[in-house]
Amino acid sequence: MTCEPRTDASGELRAASQAQPNIALIKYWGKRDAALNLPVVGSLSITLDSLWTRTDVRFVPGQKQDQVSLNGRSDEAEAKRITKCLDLLRACAGVDYGAEVASRNNFPTAAGLASSASGFAALVHAGARALGLDLSLEEQSVLARRCSGSAARSIFGGYVEWAHGKLADGADSVARPLLDSEAWPLRVAVAITSTAAKQVGSTEGMRRTAETSPYQSAWIDTQEADLSVARNAILARDFDALAQISEYSCLKMHALALAAQPGLLYWNGATVECMHRVRALRQQGVPVFFTVDAGPQVKAVCAPSAIEQVKAALRDVPGVLEVLDTGLGEGARAIAADLVEA
Ligand code: PMV
Repeated sequence: MTCEPRTDASGELRAASQAQPNIALIKYWGKRDAALNLPVVGSLSITLDSLWTRTDVRFVPGQKQDQVSLNGRSDEAEAKRITKCLDLLRACAGVDYGAEVASRNNFPTAAGLASSASGFAALVHAGARALGLDLSLEEQSVLARRCSGSAARSIFGGYVEWAHGKLADGADSVARPLLDSEAWPLRVAVAITSTAAKQVGSTEGMRRTAETSPYQSAWIDTQEADLSVARNAILARDFDALAQISEYSCLKMHALALAAQPGLLYWNGATVECMHRVRALRQQGVPVFFTVDAGPQVKAVCAPSAIEQVKAALRDVPGVLEVLDTGLGEGARAIAADLVEA
């Protein structure tokens, strides 16, 4: 990636962007380079539409510190990650201005709903524009990846594949769109089973897994085959094939993490019951499958015609607090700054 220093600094260095979480159908778990957030495996995801992060970034010449507000509050740990991400953008632009960042999610943060993916995709998209950097979407995806791996995928909409790449500097570990959301507009029901922040974050979970799980090499060795099946299923709009491979990848990732020491158990009882309900529906002929990330929420991906039935079935599971409903959406994009606080 080349970053041309900004030469025409004039006016307010401010921009706002929106990005949505993505949900991996073929999971990313494990880093080949923790500093650069390079994955040991490729992954494939869908970008959602009605859950979002909206972020307003304003660089202030002469300001030393960044000021960060997340959902109207300050959060020291997140502010540090945001400053590291802003540092990448400042290095690209050749400036040292502090920034004021206001960011808001319309869904629970850090509970396995990929808030870091939408958060860093929105931050990179807005920050790059605020500094007048002329970055392609792929270049933005590379920067977003360095802040949070899966954020690389939220720069793009629809069905997105992120390659693990082989190069040490990660130049070939880029996300690319595979198919537009309108080309196969699946729906997703998200069963919220807890709003508590997860106890073990994905970075620590991946580190522990790589160091202690006996299944790590099998995970890496079998990923390319899974990606190929999923890619073909998406391009052929073959729901059953996508259902089989997605549940397989999800359960394989959790089996890998469960076998770490100490084991990573991201599910609660309602998570498991939701998975059973989804499988029962599919056995009755309803086109639906589940996937679960590093948290207790269950995402049920289904054909548009099945969404009401899927939502009703999940709502009925004891321990399910709420069921959200979303389609597939676009990638990161510019918005008016007043939408962030609205
Ligand atoms: O990008 P991170 O560090 O939030 O890790 C994401 C890991 C999973 O959500 C479990 C899988 C994935 O591919 O998104």
